[in-house]
Amino acid sequence: MKYNALKGMQDIFSPDIYIWQKVEEVAKDVFSAYGFQELRAPIIESTDIFVRSIGETTDIVEKEMYTFSDKAGRHITLRPEGTAPIVRCYVENHLYNLPSPQKFFYSGPMFRYERPQAGRFRQFFQIGAEAFGVGDPKIDAEILSMLRLFFERLGLKGLNFEVNSIGCEKCRPDYKNALLDFFSVRIDGLCPDCKRRFDYNPLRILDCKVDTCIKLREGAPSVTDFLCSECKKHFNTLLSLLNLLNVPYVVNSDMVRGLDYYTRTTFEVTTKDLGAQNAVAAGGRYDRLVEDFGGPPTPAIGFAIGMERITTLLKSSSNQKIPIPKVFIAAIGAPAEKEGLVIADRLRDKGIWVEVGYTGNSLKSQLRRADRLSSAYVLIIGDDEISSGKLKWKRLSDGSQGEIAFTEVYDFFK
Ligand code: HAM
Repeated sequence: MKYNALKGMQDIFSPDIYIWQKVEEVAKDVFSAYGFQELRAPIIESTDIFVRSIGETTDIVEKEMYTFSDKAGRHITLRPEGTAPIVRCYVENHLYNLPSPQKFFYSGPMFRYERPQAGRFRQFFQIGAEAFGVGDPKIDAEILSMLRLFFERLGLKGLNFEVNSIGCEKCRPDYKNALLDFFSVRIDGLCPDCKRRFDYNPLRILDCKVDTCIKLREGAPSVTDFLCSECKKHFNTLLSLLNLLNVPYVVNSDMVRGLDYYTRTTFEVTTKDLGAQNAVAAGGRYDRLVEDFGGPPTPAIGFAIGMERITTLLKSSSNQKIPIPKVFIAAIGAPAEKEGLVIADRLRDKGIWVEVGYTGNSLKSQLRRADRLSSAYVLIIGDDEISSGKLKWKRLSDGSQGEIAFTEVYDFFK
């Protein structure tokens, strides 16, 4: 029987895994400098959490969730994103009683039953960050600046920071009415999903991927023309702070996010190097969600980075450093093999990566393996070395070699 990974899911191993680890390390370093602490939430949550936050008429909820019943008949869903679980955790654990802002980062797999293609998977990994309790646009600017630093540290260049404001509950009704006016004369041409969206949530028509709907929405009213004075002020202050912090951005008033919970600031970091799936990170404010989940009114903002997309960019843009063993111990004969094993363990105890040859392998095949592993040094032990108390070392990069006493091995590699 031959098994394959499920469609849209992938295994990650060497050498790619080293890029993944590097990205995770950089994220942890950069986010920690901004006071974000790691939070690990479950991968499965009640379905309702996602329906309520992401929105019933979104593609994610309508088409893409891995939802099933557990043995007790509860409706549960593999998380399609990380924000809703963090908000659930924040409210459930009364974290709003702690001083604001509370700032968290998380990483892990998300699940969406999408049509797999380059850069789009059914299991994909995000690193995300969420900050709770501050409505001041200063924190929006800090978050975008943190993302800029993250990409800079990874050496990723040429990314576009697209920002927008989609207003609040005060300006939303006027915008919604303008959209209803606009689409009411075009409703016959809309896809069946959008005909339904027209009644429930006309904003979602702007996010439809069907060609006819994309054509029909040309010339639709823009949300930026409907912002209330507070939302305008928030957005303008954010833009001036981005200038102050040298975060390069473009305002993209056509940006529509695929999740309903956003208010005011939204943003996407995009690249020209990945084809259709061009967003490497995205996020925004969600000032109503904590309250919707039963907590006190709490403004919040966050983002998530798509790991597969970042690692693809890094693979094509950088010289990948793959770790190599420092020492390979080639031993011939039973006493030498035993001695080699003991030396290997002593060096490993000091954190040095050591590989050994195995019983029955000729010296030649052991040396070939050392070479294939690109080990920095080879130590050779045989009967002669055991009786002289000295072993031979060879540095593979330049072929230099010599002898050291068994007792000096650790000092030699220190
Ligand atoms: P999102 O835009 O749905 O936002 O996803 C964020 C990022 O995850 C995307 O920009 C993309 O890089 C990556 N991504 C999404 N779907 C896939 C997929 N099927 N395959 C590969 N990568 C994917 C959110 O998830 C929000 N929770 C972000 C957020 C946090 N907003 C506020 N806080």
